[in-house]
Amino acid sequence: MEPVLQVSGLCKKYGAIVVADGVEFSLARGECLGVIGPNGAGKSSLFNLITGVAQADAGSVRLRGRELVGLPPFARVRLGVARAFQIPQPFAHLTAYENALAAASFGAGLVGAQAARAAAAAIEQTGLAAQAGLLAGRLPLLDRKRLELAKAIASGPELLLLDEVAGGLTEPEVLALTRLVAELKPRYAVIWIEHIPHALKAVSDRIMVLHFGRKLLEAPPEEAMASRAVREIYMGLTEDADGLARA
Ligand SMILES: Nc1ncnc2c1ncn2[C@@H]1O[C@H](COP(=O)(O)OP(=O)(O)O)[C@@H](O)[C@H]1O
Ligand SMILES: [Mg+2]
Repeated sequence: MEPVLQVSGLCKKYGAIVVADGVEFSLARGECLGVIGPNGAGKSSLFNLITGVAQADAGSVRLRGRELVGLPPFARVRLGVARAFQIPQPFAHLTAYENALAAASFGAGLVGAQAARAAAAAIEQTGLAAQAGLLAGRLPLLDRKRLELAKAIASGPELLLLDEVAGGLTEPEVLALTRLVAELKPRYAVIWIEHIPHALKAVSDRIMVLHFGRKLLEAPPEEAMASRAVREIYMGLTEDADGLARA
């Protein structure tokens, strides 16, 4: 089966800072690639390069075989790339449903009944049906995280990019969000950047370790977490990192 995403030879520098150094991997529908690495490793930059917010110096990013490098961000959204951020940024004065509708309209380019259907489906799939009519700005954090995913889904993606979406949640909330990502996974190709080991392990098929823009490793979760590379990067740094190395 043709992969949804194929990244090869991806390179990017900001002056002397290398954020991508020949990164390559591929991902099929129904797969989740977890991404870890220290702060500044180039994780969010990878998403910037895939979404077109940043321009690659070299390399290729193909979605279903189609080259994305050189296309502007809105064109990539139309082709099926969606991103959810750590800090939800809904239109606070619109309802949850209206936020999803905006994503279906501007992201997927849908109108009328089709846009309404896509928005309702996204709200339903993210467990927000009961909150659909509430103002987004009034939703508690976990529901705003769900809405962030709903907006991504409403834009009709094949590739779902999640950048530390579990950040700031309590432990039970992390579990709830992890369950949601696991439920969504079969329909998309998912890349999940996260610092929470058990969350990544629960959902990822493979974990990729980035360091100074280089891919050090891509392996099944248990193997990646137990690897020398991960232990060396995280050893003695922080409690989080300790957890990563042990997990
Ligand atoms: N637009 C930019 N201009 C200059 N430096 C940048 C830019 N974007 C990211 N960087 C730098 O690149 C490095 C990697 O950043 P980032 O990809 O956000 O790391 P992380 O792995 O923590 O997500 C950091 O040192 C960051 O300061
Ligand atoms: Mg980041």
